[in-house]
Amino acid sequence: MCGIVGYIGKRDAAPILLEGLHRLEYRGYDSAGIAVIEHTGQLRLAKCKGRVRELEKLLPRRFKGAPGIAHTRWATHGEPSDRNAHPHCDGANRVAVIHNGIIENAAALRTRLEAAGVAFCSDTDTEVLAHLIAAMPDGSLEAAVRAALRMVTGTYGLAVLDAARPDAIVVARNGSPVVLGIGEREMFVASDPAALVRHTRNVVYLDDGELAVVRADGFATSTLDGGATAKVPATITWANEAYDKGDFAHFMKKEIVEQPEAVRRTLSGRLEPRFQTAHLGGIELAAHELLDIHRVKILGCGSAYIAGCIGAHVIEQLARLPAHAEPASEFRYRNPVIERDTLYIAVSQSGETFDTLAAVQEIKRKGGRTLGVVNVVGSTIARECGRGIYLHAGPEVAVVSTKTFTCTVVALALFAIHLGRIRDLSPGQGGRLLAALAALPDQIDEILAREPEIARLAQDLACCDHAFFVGRSAGHAIAMEGALKLKEVSYLHAEAYSAAELKHGPLALITSQTPTVVVLPADDLLQKNLSTIEEIRARHGPIISITQANRAPPAVDAAFSVPVSAPELDPVLLNIPLQLLAYHVALQRGCDIDHPRNLAKSVTVE
Ligand code: F6R
Repeated sequence: MCGIVGYIGKRDAAPILLEGLHRLEYRGYDSAGIAVIEHTGQLRLAKCKGRVRELEKLLPRRFKGAPGIAHTRWATHGEPSDRNAHPHCDGANRVAVIHNGIIENAAALRTRLEAAGVAFCSDTDTEVLAHLIAAMPDGSLEAAVRAALRMVTGTYGLAVLDAARPDAIVVARNGSPVVLGIGEREMFVASDPAALVRHTRNVVYLDDGELAVVRADGFATSTLDGGATAKVPATITWANEAYDKGDFAHFMKKEIVEQPEAVRRTLSGRLEPRFQTAHLGGIELAAHELLDIHRVKILGCGSAYIAGCIGAHVIEQLARLPAHAEPASEFRYRNPVIERDTLYIAVSQSGETFDTLAAVQEIKRKGGRTLGVVNVVGSTIARECGRGIYLHAGPEVAVVSTKTFTCTVVALALFAIHLGRIRDLSPGQGGRLLAALAALPDQIDEILAREPEIARLAQDLACCDHAFFVGRSAGHAIAMEGALKLKEVSYLHAEAYSAAELKHGPLALITSQTPTVVVLPADDLLQKNLSTIEEIRARHGPIISITQANRAPPAVDAAFSVPVSAPELDPVLLNIPLQLLAYHVALQRGCDIDHPRNLAKSVTVE
């Protein structure tokens, strides 16, 4: 979603802010802007639609001084344009605000302000905040921000500058992340640690409902009501290179290639061969409590939801418990029944996705038991769930999820083994699965080494306008993920269907111009999938199959086979070629892979 960067200290803010914006630009955005209080005490502003490099071109040489704040915007209220880009200012150009989230009562506040003679310069909800803060009676900037925030409803992560009070940046959080970076007589502000890791590894995460006054020599946090809060700084442990593309052309490619190492980290210390089970320190549910669980519900959005579908399938297989995944974005709107004996698992790479967080809060409000499967340590969903499994996949910078999808499935498989071994899964079965998990990183490496074969397959798809992805059971979830990845980065219209459902309607769309990618594990459903292939061939539909090395490729137009794992873990391997397929189709279609249009990493609005 939108990105926030702020700096206060002795150095000029602009270069630091621009570098921070560059670090955030992979998250997806449509415009960027910067505000700095110059040595003269004047507030200087530059903003425009487009990339950070367009903004850079606008900056006059004399853009000197600090503090400063900068923003990358992902449009919610008002189209992407120069005038709607943040920061937004009051009429006197004294107060500047950058904001992530949505002010829900912005329209009503705007009407009131306009009636009082305020002229608006943008269509955004954020601008009301700048006018409200500027209109507060004299006093501290902190008091003005606090008073303004009492008047708004909605979500925000925001940072405010006031040219009349240049010794501080005031930041606040309610639903959108804000992190403070502690330097040597200088402080940083960001919506994501990626923007400040170059300067400091010492950070403080604000909680919802918290406000901070950030000065060059430190910070003070408090609740919106003014009660002081105590914060313990955390240390960012990832090396700077984890946030860099290195020699790779795209973050997406880098993160696909990182998967063997990422999976090793997800597995590290969690395979327990002595008891042929998985050891998961963070789940904080004793065996007798897990025995009381009779149902598992997994919630997530996008790829996280799809990983949850596979996880639910594995849990049902191994623990013999009813397990089901549901998009978190739908969950709370149907007034869900929350059951005492159900475990609700929230899956999220970022740990900040608004819809997933709102689902967790609804479950907790109704007394349900939650567990998080999250990548970003200390993120809101991780903290809200209170117990969970961290992926340890490393920072995922590309907008599209690749390594964290894989690691989420692996983490849920670990949980399924743990749950299964408490129930009826035999030690022999547990041992079989541990061995299969341990073999995954090398098997993923084997697939990655055959990338040129997938690049050739991509040629068959790159020139099409539409494609189907089909599979059965967990293979259907892999088809969903393959189609989603292709849509996101190549803009090719890809539709995922259960192979069994194809004949109930979508078969009407199969022509010689509409290829179908069939996910074809050598499992109990193989014959059924082969029948689906025949149905497509009879309509002259081209077929690419993703199959397994232990069987002869079926009579299709093109095939790629992956190594054999345990049947429960096959989806992990079947998905890797589909990630590369999406990447290469996008490359061949000349798409801007790390900046997919209209998309943002970490969707912190509803
Ligand atoms: C797809 C993708 C999105 C995310 C979704 C949830 O490639 O990245 O569909 O999976 O926005 O994000 P998290 O996992 O951060 O909750």
